[in-house]
Amino acid sequence: MTGPPIAGVPNETIVRTYDRLAVLYDWFLTPLKLKTRQRAVDVLDIEGGETVVEIGCGPGHALLTLSERVGPSGYAVGLDAAPGMVRRARQRLVRDTSGRTDVLLGDARSVPFRTDTVDVVLIEDTLELFSNDEMATVVDEIHRILRDDGRLCVLTMERAGAEGDRFVKTYDWLFENVPGYRRFGCRPIYARRALEAGGFEIVRRERHRRGHVWPVELLLAHPDQ
Ligand SMILES: C[S@@+](CC[C@H](N)C(=O)[O-])C[C@H]1O[C@@H](n2cnc3c(N)ncnc32)[C@H](O)[C@@H]1O
Repeated sequence: MTGPPIAGVPNETIVRTYDRLAVLYDWFLTPLKLKTRQRAVDVLDIEGGETVVEIGCGPGHALLTLSERVGPSGYAVGLDAAPGMVRRARQRLVRDTSGRTDVLLGDARSVPFRTDTVDVVLIEDTLELFSNDEMATVVDEIHRILRDDGRLCVLTMERAGAEGDRFVKTYDWLFENVPGYRRFGCRPIYARRALEAGGFEIVRRERHRRGHVWPVELLLAHPDQ
């Protein structure tokens, strides 16, 4: 079990929520996420020329930084299932980057990349939007596309060791009691467990708090050899 199931809310419904909220999401949540996102990009230690994929890239803020890191000889690709998010990410990248970058409309459960071709994957605040079975599929897909020496960074709300956290309890309460809240999909999950079950070795684990309140775990992982 990697987290409570998202009863009765298919991923397609969750995607529609983010699609409708793309502009608001872009404006309101981005400032809170800057530090942990920067930290994720730093620990990934990206080199010029690498191929980097961001799954659930949203409005493209991290993708912009990733494209700067890989430079003109590398390739940074964002994937998102919400057309509104893809549109915003494309606008942002066209405006601000000269790197080789793409934003694809697509599904994390079946990623449109060839096996063993990607150096780095970033997935921020997205793994928790899937039911337990689908989360395993997403992790398998990431494992499939990464090269043997590839790196994965996950930013998420880890549930293990945080069960008593007030923020986590509030999230659980919202999830259970507020009609419509499930349509956002976010909830604390057992992310470490999901990665290890999917064939990853976690080599770094950091706990942060966004805005001193919102607990987030940063996991750096490599495919098991
Ligand atoms: C909470 S947002 C995070 C966006 C961005 N990573 C960030 O941290 O700002 C989750 C994103 O995952 C996308 N998403 C949800 N389900 C998806 C799926 N099946 N495939 C690809 N993207 C998906 C949503 O459209 C949304 O943009």
